[in-house]
Amino acid sequence: MRVVDERGDLSAVRDGLRGRVAVVMTMGALHEGHAALLRAARRSADHVVATIFVNPLQFGPAEDLDRYPRTLAADLALCEREGVDAVFTPAPHVVYPDGPPVVRVTAGPLGAVLEGASRPGHFDGVLTVVCKLLHLTRPDVALFGQKDAQQLAGIRRMVRDLDLPVQVVAVPTVREPDGLALSSRNRYLSADERRAALVLHRALECARAAGDAGAGRALVQAEPGVELEYLERVHGTSFAADPDGDLVVVAARVGSTRLIDNIVLDDPQEG
Ligand code: PAJ
Repeated sequence: MRVVDERGDLSAVRDGLRGRVAVVMTMGALHEGHAALLRAARRSADHVVATIFVNPLQFGPAEDLDRYPRTLAADLALCEREGVDAVFTPAPHVVYPDGPPVVRVTAGPLGAVLEGASRPGHFDGVLTVVCKLLHLTRPDVALFGQKDAQQLAGIRRMVRDLDLPVQVVAVPTVREPDGLALSSRNRYLSADERRAALVLHRALECARAAGDAGAGRALVQAEPGVELEYLERVHGTSFAADPDGDLVVVAARVGSTRLIDNIVLDDPQEG
């Protein structure tokens, strides 16, 4: 496995990869959710490139950029185990040599609702770095988790709207046996908070069974120590509220940790 942190080295490694190349982009602190993406990547291409970059552009001024977990040695070991061919681990000045980019990708209306409303500028930062990393890694296929459903929808839309030559593949959310969606932020939860956080998945299941977000919302609101931000049934591409939508999305604060989750309605893999 090659580990490179400069553009020139990445380009040389990429030039040497023959056949189909898949990319899995991450911010590190890798867990079984990321591993599932790497395995799906392995199945869908001849070579896998992973990127590990905590992108400052997608963090708001009051968010956890400095606090975001950094576990590079363990991350590289996981990549090696999963048969990754090359890992790109650039420093911020490598990705943004001229400082914060002046020209950016904007997420449009998708960037203004739900996650976008809670985190102004977040999706512009995500799409800008994803666009750059696609150009730098030149994959045939890029894999993203259903866990971050609105991010995935934004990336699909960017690829269509800007004619980026890549196939986007979604990977189902990986959960703990008790239903908690794996997230790099779960490590911030105390034992009590972790127990309380289970209400998110329970509420999504409840909303799915009822076909309506209201019942799920009430469950979260009744959970001590959990502060609901939103729980909505939405259209899976626009993320507009839609009583017939194919997705239920939730965001809540558990203690000081912000968690998101979602459930696809009519998905035989869920539930
Ligand atoms: P990060 O949070 O590290 O996630 C990297 C990828 O792993 C994303 O596609 C995310 O949806 C997926 N993922 C995370 N938890 C998952 C789970 N439990 N099950 C399945 N997939 C999961 O998302 C980002 O980084 C960044 O925004 C990035 C796209 C890398 C741009 O900076």
